[in-house]
Amino acid sequence: MTTSSSADRRRFLTHSALGTAVAAVGIAPLAARDAEAASAGRISAREVAILKFLAAAELVEADLWLQYEELSRRNASYRAALEDVDEGLSDYAIDTQEDEESHAAFINAFLVSIGEQPVNLDPFRTILPPPVTGLRRTGRLTNLTRLTVDTSYYTRYRGIGNPDFGASFAQIATIQNQPAIPLSNATPARQLAGIVQVAAFHFASIEQGGTSLYSQFLPFVRHPDVVRILAAIGPTEAIHFAHFRQSLEGIRGFNSGDGRLVVPNLTGGRREARRVMPRPCAFLRSGLPRCSVVRPTAPANAGARAAATGLVASGLFAGQSQAFLNAVVALAAAADGVA
Ligand SMILES: [Fe+2]
Repeated sequence: MTTSSSADRRRFLTHSALGTAVAAVGIAPLAARDAEAASAGRISAREVAILKFLAAAELVEADLWLQYEELSRRNASYRAALEDVDEGLSDYAIDTQEDEESHAAFINAFLVSIGEQPVNLDPFRTILPPPVTGLRRTGRLTNLTRLTVDTSYYTRYRGIGNPDFGASFAQIATIQNQPAIPLSNATPARQLAGIVQVAAFHFASIEQGGTSLYSQFLPFVRHPDVVRILAAIGPTEAIHFAHFRQSLEGIRGFNSGDGRLVVPNLTGGRREARRVMPRPCAFLRSGLPRCSVVRPTAPANAGARAAATGLVASGLFAGQSQAFLNAVVALAAAADGVA
Protein backbone atom coordinates (compact mmCIF):
# COMPACT_ATOMS: atom_id res chain seq x y z
CA MET A 1 0.00 0.00 0.00
CA THR A 2 1.41 3.36 -0.98
CA THR A 3 1.52 6.31 1.36
CA SER A 4 -1.30 8.04 -0.46
CA SER A 5 -3.55 4.99 -0.42
CA SER A 6 -2.80 4.49 3.27
CA ALA A 7 -3.92 8.06 3.80
CA ASP A 8 -7.03 7.36 1.72
CA ARG A 9 -7.71 4.34 3.89
CA ARG A 10 -7.44 6.35 7.08
CA ARG A 11 -9.69 9.07 5.69
CA PHE A 12 -12.23 6.52 4.53
CA LEU A 13 -12.41 4.87 7.93
CA THR A 14 -12.55 8.18 9.71
CA HIS A 15 -15.41 9.50 7.61
CA SER A 16 -17.30 6.29 7.18
CA ALA A 17 -20.03 4.74 9.21
CA LEU A 18 -17.50 2.59 11.03
CA GLY A 19 -17.42 4.73 14.14
CA THR A 20 -21.20 4.86 14.21
CA ALA A 21 -21.49 1.11 13.74
CA VAL A 22 -19.04 0.39 16.56
CA ALA A 23 -20.75 2.82 18.90
CA ALA A 24 -24.23 1.57 18.09
CA VAL A 25 -23.64 -2.14 18.47
CA GLY A 26 -20.73 -2.49 20.89
CA ILE A 27 -18.53 -5.52 21.43
CA ALA A 28 -19.67 -7.22 24.62
CA PRO A 29 -23.10 -8.43 23.41
CA LEU A 30 -21.52 -10.13 20.38
CA ALA A 31 -18.90 -11.87 22.54
CA ALA A 32 -21.59 -13.03 24.95
CA ARG A 33 -23.71 -14.39 22.11
CA ASP A 34 -20.67 -16.16 20.67
CA ALA A 35 -19.84 -17.86 23.97
CA GLU A 36 -23.40 -19.05 24.22
CA ALA A 37 -23.42 -20.28 20.61
CA ALA A 38 -20.14 -22.15 21.04
CA SER A 39 -21.40 -24.02 24.07
CA ALA A 40 -24.51 -25.00 22.11
CA GLY A 41 -22.49 -26.06 19.02
CA ARG A 42 -24.18 -23.40 16.94
CA ILE A 43 -22.75 -21.02 14.37
CA SER A 44 -21.78 -17.89 16.27
CA ALA A 45 -22.80 -14.30 15.53
CA ARG A 46 -19.18 -13.54 14.55
CA GLU A 47 -19.17 -16.46 12.14
CA VAL A 48 -22.41 -15.22 10.57
CA ALA A 49 -20.87 -11.75 10.26
CA ILE A 50 -17.79 -13.23 8.58
CA LEU A 51 -19.95 -15.16 6.12
CA LYS A 52 -22.02 -12.06 5.36
CA PHE A 53 -18.93 -9.98 4.61
CA LEU A 54 -17.58 -12.77 2.42
CA ALA A 55 -20.92 -12.94 0.59
CA ALA A 56 -20.68 -9.20 -0.06
CA ALA A 57 -17.05 -9.49 -1.18
CA GLU A 58 -17.97 -12.31 -3.55
CA LEU A 59 -20.89 -10.30 -4.98
CA VAL A 60 -18.44 -7.45 -5.64
CA GLU A 61 -15.96 -9.86 -7.21
CA ALA A 62 -18.65 -11.46 -9.35
CA ASP A 63 -19.78 -8.02 -10.49
CA LEU A 64 -16.36 -6.89 -11.67
CA TRP A 65 -15.54 -10.25 -13.21
CA LEU A 66 -18.84 -10.23 -15.08
CA GLN A 67 -17.73 -7.08 -16.90
CA TYR A 68 -14.43 -8.72 -17.83
CA GLU A 69 -16.33 -11.87 -18.84
CA GLU A 70 -18.76 -10.01 -21.10
CA LEU A 71 -15.90 -8.26 -22.90
CA SER A 72 -13.91 -11.48 -23.16
CA ARG A 73 -16.85 -13.27 -24.75
CA ARG A 74 -18.32 -10.56 -26.95
CA ASN A 75 -15.72 -7.91 -27.71
CA ALA A 76 -13.27 -9.41 -30.21
CA SER A 77 -10.67 -6.64 -29.97
CA TYR A 78 -10.61 -6.75 -26.14
CA ARG A 79 -10.33 -10.53 -26.20
CA ALA A 80 -7.50 -10.38 -28.73
CA ALA A 81 -5.66 -7.74 -26.69
CA LEU A 82 -5.95 -9.89 -23.53
CA GLU A 83 -4.71 -12.90 -25.45
CA ASP A 84 -1.76 -10.87 -26.63
CA VAL A 85 -0.65 -10.77 -22.97
CA ASP A 86 -1.44 -14.46 -22.34
CA GLU A 87 -3.29 -16.71 -24.75
CA GLY A 88 -5.36 -18.08 -21.87
CA LEU A 89 -6.18 -14.77 -20.22
CA SER A 90 -9.67 -14.20 -21.66
CA ASP A 91 -10.69 -17.77 -20.85
CA TYR A 92 -9.32 -17.36 -17.31
CA ALA A 93 -11.49 -14.25 -16.93
CA ILE A 94 -14.58 -16.13 -18.11
CA ASP A 95 -13.93 -19.07 -15.78
CA THR A 96 -13.11 -16.85 -12.81
CA GLN A 97 -16.44 -15.05 -13.19
CA GLU A 98 -18.25 -18.39 -12.95
CA ASP A 99 -16.24 -19.29 -9.84
CA GLU A 100 -16.92 -16.00 -8.06
CA GLU A 101 -20.61 -16.14 -8.87
CA SER A 102 -20.72 -19.65 -7.39
CA HIS A 103 -18.98 -18.42 -4.23
CA ALA A 104 -21.51 -15.62 -3.74
CA ALA A 105 -24.51 -17.86 -4.44
CA PHE A 106 -23.21 -20.63 -2.18
CA ILE A 107 -22.46 -18.45 0.83
CA ASN A 108 -25.80 -16.69 0.54
CA ALA A 109 -27.61 -20.04 0.21
CA PHE A 110 -25.74 -21.31 3.26
CA LEU A 111 -26.81 -18.24 5.24
CA VAL A 112 -30.44 -18.92 4.29
CA SER A 113 -30.01 -22.59 5.26
CA ILE A 114 -29.09 -21.59 8.82
CA GLY A 115 -31.95 -19.10 9.10
CA GLU A 116 -29.96 -15.96 8.36
CA GLN A 117 -30.66 -13.22 5.83
CA PRO A 118 -28.64 -13.43 2.60
CA VAL A 119 -26.65 -10.38 1.52
CA ASN A 120 -28.40 -8.47 -1.25
CA LEU A 121 -26.49 -5.65 -2.95
CA ASP A 122 -28.93 -5.32 -5.86
CA PRO A 123 -30.14 -1.82 -4.84
CA PHE A 124 -26.55 -0.62 -5.34
CA ARG A 125 -26.18 -1.83 -8.92
CA THR A 126 -26.19 1.74 -10.14
CA ILE A 127 -22.96 2.31 -12.10
CA LEU A 128 -23.46 2.20 -15.86
CA PRO A 129 -20.49 0.74 -17.75
CA PRO A 130 -19.17 2.50 -20.88
CA PRO A 131 -21.07 2.09 -24.18
CA VAL A 132 -18.81 -0.57 -25.60
CA THR A 133 -19.52 -3.67 -27.70
CA GLY A 134 -20.07 -6.66 -25.45
CA LEU A 135 -20.82 -4.82 -22.21
CA ARG A 136 -24.48 -4.92 -21.25
CA ARG A 137 -25.74 -1.47 -20.30
CA THR A 138 -27.06 -2.52 -16.93
CA GLY A 139 -26.21 -1.05 -13.55
CA ARG A 140 -23.13 -2.44 -11.81
CA LEU A 141 -21.68 -2.40 -8.31
CA THR A 142 -18.18 -1.66 -9.53
CA ASN A 143 -16.42 0.82 -11.77
CA LEU A 144 -13.55 -0.45 -13.93
CA THR A 145 -12.82 2.88 -15.63
CA ARG A 146 -10.72 4.70 -12.99
CA LEU A 147 -8.56 2.14 -11.26
CA THR A 148 -5.51 2.81 -9.17
CA VAL A 149 -3.92 -0.62 -8.84
CA ASP A 150 -1.52 -1.41 -6.01
CA THR A 151 0.95 -3.66 -7.85
CA SER A 152 3.22 -4.29 -4.85
CA TYR A 153 1.93 -7.86 -4.58
CA TYR A 154 4.28 -8.61 -7.46
CA THR A 155 7.38 -7.76 -5.42
CA ARG A 156 5.80 -8.85 -2.11
CA TYR A 157 5.50 -12.47 -3.19
CA ARG A 158 9.04 -12.42 -4.56
CA GLY A 159 10.58 -10.99 -1.39
CA ILE A 160 11.49 -12.40 2.02
CA GLY A 161 9.65 -9.68 3.94
CA ASN A 162 6.08 -9.90 5.18
CA PRO A 163 3.70 -6.92 5.57
CA ASP A 164 2.59 -8.50 8.88
CA PHE A 165 6.11 -7.72 10.14
CA GLY A 166 6.05 -4.17 8.80
CA ALA A 167 7.72 -4.84 5.44
CA SER A 168 6.69 -2.70 2.48
CA PHE A 169 7.20 -3.41 -1.17
CA ALA A 170 7.88 -1.39 -4.28
CA GLN A 171 5.34 -1.04 -7.06
CA ILE A 172 6.28 -2.95 -10.21
CA ALA A 173 4.09 -0.62 -12.29
CA THR A 174 2.42 2.77 -11.89
CA ILE A 175 -1.33 2.52 -12.52
CA GLN A 176 -3.20 5.60 -11.38
CA ASN A 177 -6.80 6.42 -12.29
CA GLN A 178 -6.73 4.21 -15.38
CA PRO A 179 -9.42 2.26 -17.27
CA ALA A 180 -9.17 -1.54 -17.31
CA ILE A 181 -11.92 -1.69 -19.93
CA PRO A 182 -12.33 0.42 -23.10
CA LEU A 183 -14.30 3.64 -22.71
CA SER A 184 -15.55 3.62 -26.32
CA ASN A 185 -15.51 1.50 -29.46
CA ALA A 186 -13.14 4.05 -31.00
CA THR A 187 -10.30 3.13 -28.63
CA PRO A 188 -7.08 2.91 -30.70
CA ALA A 189 -5.23 -0.42 -30.64
CA ARG A 190 -2.21 1.07 -28.87
CA GLN A 191 -4.41 2.46 -26.10
CA LEU A 192 -6.24 -0.85 -25.81
CA ALA A 193 -2.88 -2.56 -25.28
CA GLY A 194 -2.36 -0.31 -22.24
CA ILE A 195 -5.91 -0.95 -20.99
CA VAL A 196 -5.52 -4.73 -20.96
CA GLN A 197 -2.24 -4.41 -19.06
CA VAL A 198 -4.15 -2.50 -16.38
CA ALA A 199 -6.71 -5.33 -16.42
CA ALA A 200 -4.02 -8.01 -16.14
CA PHE A 201 -2.55 -6.34 -13.05
CA HIS A 202 -6.05 -5.83 -11.65
CA PHE A 203 -6.95 -9.53 -12.11
CA ALA A 204 -4.05 -10.69 -9.93
CA SER A 205 -4.55 -7.84 -7.46
CA ILE A 206 -8.15 -8.84 -6.73
CA GLU A 207 -7.38 -12.50 -6.29
CA GLN A 208 -4.37 -12.06 -3.99
CA GLY A 209 -6.54 -9.86 -1.78
CA GLY A 210 -9.22 -12.54 -1.65
CA THR A 211 -6.62 -15.15 -0.76
CA SER A 212 -5.37 -13.14 2.22
CA LEU A 213 -8.91 -12.25 3.30
CA TYR A 214 -10.07 -15.86 3.61
CA SER A 215 -6.84 -16.96 5.34
CA GLN A 216 -6.97 -14.28 8.03
CA PHE A 217 -10.55 -15.23 9.04
CA LEU A 218 -9.66 -18.84 9.87
CA PRO A 219 -8.50 -18.21 13.47
CA PHE A 220 -11.92 -16.70 14.23
CA VAL A 221 -14.17 -19.55 13.14
CA ARG A 222 -14.65 -22.95 14.73
CA HIS A 223 -17.96 -24.40 13.55
CA PRO A 224 -16.97 -27.25 11.19
CA ASP A 225 -19.21 -26.02 8.37
CA VAL A 226 -17.79 -22.51 8.50
CA VAL A 227 -14.22 -23.79 8.72
CA ARG A 228 -14.85 -25.97 5.68
CA ILE A 229 -16.37 -23.10 3.70
CA LEU A 230 -13.43 -20.78 4.40
CA ALA A 231 -10.80 -23.48 3.98
CA ALA A 232 -12.30 -24.67 0.68
CA ILE A 233 -13.18 -21.37 -1.02
CA GLY A 234 -10.08 -19.44 0.05
CA PRO A 235 -7.62 -21.66 -1.84
CA THR A 236 -9.60 -21.21 -5.08
CA GLU A 237 -8.80 -17.50 -4.83
CA ALA A 238 -5.14 -18.53 -4.51
CA ILE A 239 -5.45 -20.72 -7.61
CA HIS A 240 -6.86 -17.73 -9.51
CA PHE A 241 -4.04 -15.52 -8.23
CA ALA A 242 -1.40 -18.03 -9.30
CA HIS A 243 -2.71 -18.12 -12.87
CA PHE A 244 -3.09 -14.38 -13.16
CA ARG A 245 0.33 -13.75 -11.64
CA GLN A 246 1.89 -16.06 -14.18
CA SER A 247 0.04 -14.20 -16.96
CA LEU A 248 2.07 -11.12 -16.05
CA GLU A 249 5.04 -12.79 -17.73
CA GLY A 250 3.39 -11.65 -20.98
CA ILE A 251 3.30 -7.97 -20.03
CA ARG A 252 5.24 -6.09 -22.68
CA GLY A 253 5.22 -2.69 -21.07
CA PHE A 254 3.42 0.59 -21.65
CA ASN A 255 4.05 4.27 -21.01
CA SER A 256 1.18 6.72 -21.29
CA GLY A 257 3.61 9.64 -21.29
CA ASP A 258 1.84 11.48 -18.47
CA GLY A 259 3.29 9.36 -15.65
CA ARG A 260 -0.04 7.77 -14.71
CA LEU A 261 0.46 4.47 -16.52
CA VAL A 262 4.00 3.17 -16.58
CA VAL A 263 4.39 -0.58 -16.97
CA PRO A 264 7.73 -2.33 -17.43
CA ASN A 265 8.35 -5.11 -19.92
CA LEU A 266 8.07 -8.34 -17.92
CA THR A 267 8.65 -10.74 -20.81
CA GLY A 268 11.80 -12.74 -21.37
CA GLY A 269 12.57 -13.38 -17.73
CA ARG A 270 13.48 -9.79 -17.06
CA ARG A 271 12.96 -8.54 -13.49
CA GLU A 272 12.64 -12.16 -12.40
CA ALA A 273 9.23 -12.38 -14.05
CA ARG A 274 9.42 -16.16 -13.96
CA ARG A 275 9.95 -16.34 -10.20
CA VAL A 276 6.26 -16.93 -9.62
CA MET A 277 6.37 -19.20 -6.57
CA PRO A 278 5.74 -17.57 -3.17
CA ARG A 279 9.24 -17.08 -1.80
CA PRO A 280 9.70 -18.09 1.87
CA CYS A 281 9.23 -15.07 4.11
CA ALA A 282 8.98 -14.11 7.76
CA PHE A 283 5.88 -15.67 9.31
CA LEU A 284 3.95 -15.74 12.58
CA ARG A 285 6.70 -14.77 15.01
CA SER A 286 10.23 -13.50 14.71
CA GLY A 287 12.76 -16.21 15.51
CA LEU A 288 10.89 -18.84 13.52
CA PRO A 289 12.33 -19.85 10.14
CA ARG A 290 11.14 -18.27 6.92
CA CYS A 291 8.18 -20.05 5.33
CA SER A 292 6.46 -19.98 1.92
CA VAL A 293 3.01 -18.69 2.86
CA VAL A 294 0.14 -16.45 1.89
CA ARG A 295 0.91 -12.93 3.06
CA PRO A 296 -0.41 -10.81 4.69
CA THR A 297 -2.67 -12.81 7.02
CA ALA A 298 -2.82 -10.48 10.03
CA PRO A 299 -6.31 -8.98 10.47
CA ALA A 300 -4.92 -5.45 10.53
CA ASN A 301 -3.47 -5.94 7.04
CA ALA A 302 -5.81 -8.47 5.47
CA GLY A 303 -9.06 -8.27 7.45
CA ALA A 304 -12.45 -7.17 6.21
CA ARG A 305 -11.90 -3.47 6.92
CA ALA A 306 -8.46 -3.55 5.31
CA ALA A 307 -9.93 -5.30 2.27
CA ALA A 308 -12.82 -2.86 1.99
CA THR A 309 -10.67 0.22 2.35
CA GLY A 310 -8.18 -1.16 -0.16
CA LEU A 311 -10.97 -1.64 -2.69
CA VAL A 312 -12.23 1.89 -2.07
CA ALA A 313 -8.70 3.29 -2.49
CA SER A 314 -8.43 1.45 -5.82
CA GLY A 315 -11.33 3.43 -7.28
CA LEU A 316 -13.40 0.28 -7.77
CA PHE A 317 -16.41 2.00 -6.18
CA ALA A 318 -15.98 5.40 -7.85
CA GLY A 319 -19.47 6.80 -8.34
CA GLN A 320 -21.06 4.55 -5.71
CA SER A 321 -23.44 6.02 -3.14
CA GLN A 322 -22.47 6.76 0.45
CA ALA A 323 -25.20 4.29 1.45
CA PHE A 324 -23.31 1.52 -0.34
CA LEU A 325 -20.02 2.45 1.33
CA ASN A 326 -21.76 2.61 4.71
CA ALA A 327 -23.25 -0.85 4.17
CA VAL A 328 -19.87 -2.35 3.22
CA VAL A 329 -18.15 -0.75 6.20
CA ALA A 330 -20.82 -1.99 8.62
CA LEU A 331 -20.46 -5.54 7.25
CA ALA A 332 -16.65 -5.27 7.47
CA ALA A 333 -16.69 -4.00 11.05
CA ALA A 334 -18.96 -6.84 12.15
CA ALA A 335 -16.80 -9.43 10.36
CA ASP A 336 -13.68 -8.03 12.04
CA GLY A 337 -15.41 -8.35 15.41
CA VAL A 338 -15.48 -4.65 16.24
CA ALA A 339 -19.22 -4.09 15.84
FE1 LIG B 1 -14.37 -15.83 -4.72
